[in-house]
Amino acid sequence: MKSLKTMLNIALPKGRLGEKVYTMFKDAGFPCPSIEENSRKLIFENEEKQVRYFWVKPSDVAIYVERGAADIGVAGKDILLEYQPDVYELLDLNVGKCKMAVAAKKEFRDDAGKTLRVATKFANITKNYYSSMGREIDIIHLNGSIEIAPILGLSDVIVDIVETGTTLKENNLEVIESIVPISARLIANKASFKFKNDLIEQVLCGFKVNTEDNND
Ligand code: PRP
Repeated sequence: MKSLKTMLNIALPKGRLGEKVYTMFKDAGFPCPSIEENSRKLIFENEEKQVRYFWVKPSDVAIYVERGAADIGVAGKDILLEYQPDVYELLDLNVGKCKMAVAAKKEFRDDAGKTLRVATKFANITKNYYSSMGREIDIIHLNGSIEIAPILGLSDVIVDIVETGTTLKENNLEVIESIVPISARLIANKASFKFKNDLIEQVLCGFKVNTEDNND
């Protein structure tokens, strides 16, 4: 028989960050034992706790939440800045910390008179950043391994996520400007926030108690 209980649908970013974030939900009082079993399943529920989790690609979480397929989810600030989804940003989870930065080859010398060629996955963040400085740029939109672009002469600089800095270091690149700090955020669908407010508030309360001492 179908449950009459309202379920809270939660989109988690697949991967290491998602596992950490699931633990935060668990510690906030919303465990789901089946998710902890090793399997290729993508959807898990705990009817008693009224939660249904699903693993999605990190960059897709905001789409699920914006369209209401998920009521809440966890997305990086990079994705929220880049795609500006129409969702509520409820809480900074203080995990998945990194920064958006401009990087270049060590010997790179900027010539302000020339159009700057910038390779990135984050075209909107990049456009906003350079237009705020009045700098003319040519965006080269790539989908990954951005660090290769300046090495092969495809671009002058890159705009990308820097976490440990290892990828830049191992490719002889360095940060030349920091754009914005990034971390994971708890987001909510606007209608769900209204209609499933009790459940969402319970999650928020559990998180607030536990996020204060998170220093990833
Ligand atoms: C991200 C980012 C950098 C790297 C930075 O790549 O694009 O390449 O992580 O991390 P680090 O500073 O700790 O070395 P990701 O693993 O998401 O793969 P991608 O090449 O598809 O962007």
